Amino acid sequence: MISSFDADNDLAAYLGDSVVASALEAWAGGHALRVAVPPEPWRRRGGSGALLVRVRVTRIAGDRGPSDLLMKVCSPGSPAGEPAIHERAWQLSPTFARRHLFRQAFPATILQDGRVLMYLDSSESLVDDRTLGELPIRLLVDCATATIRLVWGEWNGRTRRREVSTVADVLRCELRGAFDKGRSAYRWLQQAGFDVEDAQVQALSDASAQLNAMVSLLVRGSELGQRKLEYFCGNSHGDLHLDNVIVPFGPDESPDPGRIKLIDLSGFSPTAPLTRDLATLLTSCALKVVRKGVTPAETSALVDALTASRPTAVTSCRAESPAVKDMLGVLHAVRSAALAEFDADLQHLLHAQYLLSLIAQAITYTSYRNIGHFGRRWYFELGISAAERFVAFYDSGPLVSSTWLK
Ligand SMILES: Nc1ncnc2c1ncn2[C@@H]1O[C@H](COP(=O)(O)OP(=O)(O)O)[C@@H](O)[C@H]1O
Ligand SMILES: [Mg+2]
Repeated sequence: MISSFDADNDLAAYLGDSVVASALEAWAGGHALRVAVPPEPWRRRGGSGALLVRVRVTRIAGDRGPSDLLMKVCSPGSPAGEPAIHERAWQLSPTFARRHLFRQAFPATILQDGRVLMYLDSSESLVDDRTLGELPIRLLVDCATATIRLVWGEWNGRTRRREVSTVADVLRCELRGAFDKGRSAYRWLQQAGFDVEDAQVQALSDASAQLNAMVSLLVRGSELGQRKLEYFCGNSHGDLHLDNVIVPFGPDESPDPGRIKLIDLSGFSPTAPLTRDLATLLTSCALKVVRKGVTPAETSALVDALTASRPTAVTSCRAESPAVKDMLGVLHAVRSAALAEFDADLQHLLHAQYLLSLIAQAITYTSYRNIGHFGRRWYFELGISAAERFVAFYDSGPLVSSTWLK
């Protein structure tokens, strides 16, 4: 992020991209606007490669003062679909959207090279607000629980639905093409996730084979894969990691969880398994501690906190660092808040689909290079545990409720 910019209002230099600068000037001309570098410049690269930049716009006619927009330059391909998907989310749930999504101030502009300019009415949030990922762990508890409550309660409480499908289909749906040729998890599947030459990971080869075999089994239509599974579906953000949640801060410098906003909706779906967002949020919370390295005892405690059928308050675990202890508290609180959105007799069903969402998330993380060797190994263990726990469901009774289709 840049904090100051003195390029004499040189928009192209500020944006760092002459194609975008020309397109923006042409767009402004077409809307009778003038566009300039704002007095408080802000520019950042998102994880998808998108450029995000604050720009100042002024109407050429009239006496309305200038205002600032957040322009997102979405990359070509599927990220370029974000403005349309964002708009769809607005139209499907306008009350929720007014509270928890930013508004697009203008329709998006498509560039010749396939990129898309999105104009968000959110520039005020750039000054004081932070993402969940920027909060210290002690502030995460309230804000992460508020996030899952707003997603499962406000966004889905009255509209969520129940569907029946096969285990294999739900898992495939959660993997969302992660195993497609060329995608990172495809490469992971080929390589079992790690450089097998690496002595440190050789001990994991059995485990990697297990998870690998488990997923192939589920996806390729084994008996377990063909079993019917009842699951809840509805509105899903689709990529609810910590840096896609914006937390407003009040004048007293404290976070205001009631006004949380979700950004980066390119993965939104109105019909996704609901546990996708829960699993994404939790695995992204865990990353805050596991990427720095945790002890084996801490690994077990964290994995258990994510996969156990009921969230249990953690009393102690050996060699527990303060950060891990706080994180165990976060995971427990978020899972409890999520479960509280469902009646007790539905929580068993919910757990089965949650484990499938967790397996898919774990697989996706094991294929990320930027989380380090330790992080990848940790997500591997998470995936194995979630897969084992899912298989235990196989023996524990029907995964379709008796009330189905009543
Ligand atoms: N309205 C906003 N307020 C504050 N920060 C924001 C806002 N929008 C984006 N950001 C920052 O920019 C980052 C990237 O934006 P995002 O839309 O998630 O792009 P990407 O699709 O590349 O992930 C966010 O993680 C956040 O740090
Ligand atoms: Mg993002």
